[in-house]
Parts: sequence; C-alpha cells; structure tokens
Amino acid sequence: MKRILITGATSAIAQETARLFAADGAALLLVGRDSDKLAAVADDLRARGAEKVETEIVDLIDLARCSRLIDEAVEKLGGLDALLVAQGTLPDQAECEADPLKTLFEFSLNAMGPITLLLRGAAYFENRRSGCLAVITSIAGVRGRKTNYIYGSAKATVSTFLEGLRGRLCGTGVSVVDIRPGFVDTPMTAHLPKQALFATPESVGARIYRAMIAGDDVVYTPWFWRWIALVLQLIPRRIFVKLSI
Ligand SMILES: NC(=O)c1ccc[n+]([C@@H]2O[C@H](COP(=O)([O-])OP(=O)(O)OC[C@H]3O[C@@H](n4cnc5c(N)ncnc54)[C@H](OP(=O)(O)O)[C@@H]3O)[C@@H](O)[C@H]2O)c1
Repeated sequence: MKRILITGATSAIAQETARLFAADGAALLLVGRDSDKLAAVADDLRARGAEKVETEIVDLIDLARCSRLIDEAVEKLGGLDALLVAQGTLPDQAECEADPLKTLFEFSLNAMGPITLLLRGAAYFENRRSGCLAVITSIAGVRGRKTNYIYGSAKATVSTFLEGLRGRLCGTGVSVVDIRPGFVDTPMTAHLPKQALFATPESVGARIYRAMIAGDDVVYTPWFWRWIALVLQLIPRRIFVKLSI
C-alpha cells in the first residue's frame, strides 16, 4: 500500500495510522482544514520515513471539493492505492435537536462527505481492480441511542453505505473497510469524563493499519466492542427506548 489519501488527516487516530504507513515508506496526501496542524503532521510523517507527503487545505463540509479529491490524489501521488476517511465531529445533541440546519451540517460532514469520497474512490479502484476504501465510522452507528442519535445515525448511514458498496465491489479486488471504534481518548472526546472503556489513539490507529493491509471488512476496535454491539442489537426495542445510554 504505497499511495494513500487521508481525509481528516489531523485526526489523532488517523495520525497514528499514517505514522505506520510512513514507516513503510508510503506516499501520502493529507487533507485537512487547519494548515498549521496539517504542516506539523506532514513534518512528523516525513521524519518517520514517508517517501512523499503532500498536503491539501480543504474544509470537508464542501462536497464539491470532496468530489475532486480522488483525482487530485491520483495526480499528486502518481496513482492511488488506498483512501482513509477520518474526518468527523461529535455534535452537541441538544443544539442539533433545536436547529435542523445544524443537524444537516453535522450530517453532511459525518456522512455526505465520506459518501462523496467513497463514490469517487470506488469508481477509480473498481476500474483498476485493486485498492482499499477505509472509513472510521463508530460503535455509535450500531443503534440509535437517544443521547447521541444525530452523530450515530450519520455513522450508521456510512456503515450501511459501506456494506452495499462492499457487495458492489465484491470480486473486483477492492477492499471496503468499516472501522467502528468505541471510546477513544482524542480531542473529539476531550470533554467527556474518562472511564475504563477508553482506548488510546495509538492502539486504534494500529488496528486500522492492520485492517487496511489485510482488507478486513468490519472492524470493532478494541475487539470487545464487537460483543457490546451484539448485546446492544439484541436489546428489545421497548426496553431500548427506556435506557438512558
Ligand atoms: N474519539 C472517539 O471516541 C471516536 C469513536 C468512534 C469514532 N470516532 C471517529 O474517528 C474519526 C477521527 O476522530 P478522532 O477521534 O481522531 O478525533 P479528532 O482528533 O478530533 O479528529 C477529527 C478530525 O476531523 C477533522 N474535521 C472536523 N471537521 C472538519 C472539516 N469541516 N473539514 C476538515 N476536517 C474536519 C478535524 O480537523 P481539525 O483538526 O481541523 O479540527 C480532525 O482532523 C472521526 O470520524 C470520529 O467520528 C472517534
């Protein structure tokens, strides 16, 4: 996996994955909205052995811009082997409930941008009959919880989309990797009280690296979230609606 496009490349989790690809000598196009942060990540990856690191400043709420990124990566890297979609926001649920436009904004960032990238990436990789499409979704997409259903439903949309895309691309040599972390200690969760279920971005980033290389399909990380997801799915609806989780 030599040429990789990472969107939301300043994400704490994505940085850890990128470090492992950099150590393999990969060429990377990093996309993010914050030029200083992006430059610091790029310097770090160069120092860790990346063959080439390009950056592109993009606000990923801009879907037209998302739609052009695959072509830009192909041009800048001389081709593309993998896409990792990492951008995301954990919106304030109450603010979203009070403001449908804010909800749509969050939905756009967490679901529509990733889907736009995936459609373009799928077309490119399908034509080449190889490649890897990876997205960081979330355990939050497994069921719509009343405390977090705006974020959760955006992530669920992407997971369902990935499942269909995996079917479309089956037999083409293209892998479709849905990474579903539980709680990870990153800037996104800085405001949450930490508890034992929190994982480090290093361990989650390393799992993503392995999943992309292996072409895994659905990855819960850490592993025990697979069983938590199963239990969540088994809770009858009439009980689930009463839970304050
Ligand atoms: N942390 C968790 O517990 C957890 C659990 C499950 C899934 N996830 C998912 O993991 C992914 C990475 O998150 P993280 O935990 O590593 O948190 P993070 O460090 O806060 O990363 C979020 C990334 O999204 C970028 N981003 C947000 N809005 C953007 C926009 N409009 N344009 C461009 N980039 C934008 C951020 O850019 P800036 O640096 O410019 O803000 C940042 O790079 C996200 O998709 C998140 O939903 C996280």
